[in-house]
Amino acid sequence: MPYNLKLIGYPIKHSMSPWIHKEFLKRTGIEGSYSLFEINPEDDFEAKLLQLKKEQTDGFNITVPYKEKIISYLDEIDETAREMQAVNTVVAKNGKWIGYNTDGIGYVRALTSAYPRLFQMTDLKILIIGSGGAARGIYYALARSGSEVIDLANRTRSKAEEIAALGTDKVNTEIYSISEAEGVLASYDLIIQTTSVGMMPNEEQAPLTIRELKEDAVVSDIIYQPIKTKLLQQAEQVNGNIHFGHTMLLYQAQSAFEIWTGKLANVTDMDTQLQQILEGR
Ligand code: ATR
Repeated sequence: MPYNLKLIGYPIKHSMSPWIHKEFLKRTGIEGSYSLFEINPEDDFEAKLLQLKKEQTDGFNITVPYKEKIISYLDEIDETAREMQAVNTVVAKNGKWIGYNTDGIGYVRALTSAYPRLFQMTDLKILIIGSGGAARGIYYALARSGSEVIDLANRTRSKAEEIAALGTDKVNTEIYSISEAEGVLASYDLIIQTTSVGMMPNEEQAPLTIRELKEDAVVSDIIYQPIKTKLLQQAEQVNGNIHFGHTMLLYQAQSAFEIWTGKLANVTDMDTQLQQILEGR
């Protein structure tokens, strides 16, 4: 039977996920479809899910604004998704719906693929700017992939403290205000920007100013509209290496596809294609 895969969310008409997953189906030689299943916030959510169950979906991605709401309709939830209290991937197995969250691991895979040397360092120092849902997933995945210094900078300190509580015994986390972080940027090997500051239509903004970076440092921005944010432009001006946010889209999708089909899709060249699509629209 061909795979019947879907994306649930609102609004999702401009999502890149159908393009990505159709490409994965092609590349792995698996028969199937990936289609939009938009649920308007005014619709009856439960009734829509029942309809989805009847359509015998094999799995779906779930995005804003339903990543938390879906949890009470699942039969099982994986540990990472439970810790995140957010699900972006559901697989239907023997009539049961099981929820996962591939955002954090997708981010780590994207970064490892672009800069493998980072994770070979024994004294890697990481700073995450922002403490929302995206920062949470990334912090959790980095902590579990063995990183030991993961500092946080956020406008609201209490939100950073909540994230720091997700660390393991091995992880050390200092919490900074945004202006304090600005003064210590040059001590990090990896700086990850996770706030919405700098996203279109406010692409002239950046959450802070980069004046100096450590040699070989990488600055990563999870914003992908625009692809090259103001912060990444600043990083380049002081000879920093940069990492683009759209690659996270590809790798979180790769991980979801693997959960549904057991096949690891090859994403080679897809980041350039995705960049062109995003820049062209
Ligand atoms: P997401 O789930 O996409 O990460 P979110 O949970 O709304 O989105 O988190 C947004 C993050 O961007 C938060 O860390 C937020 O800071 P606060 O915790 O202080 O709210 C940060 N953010 C948003 N707008 C900001 C701004 N103008 N300046 C600084 N930080 C901002």
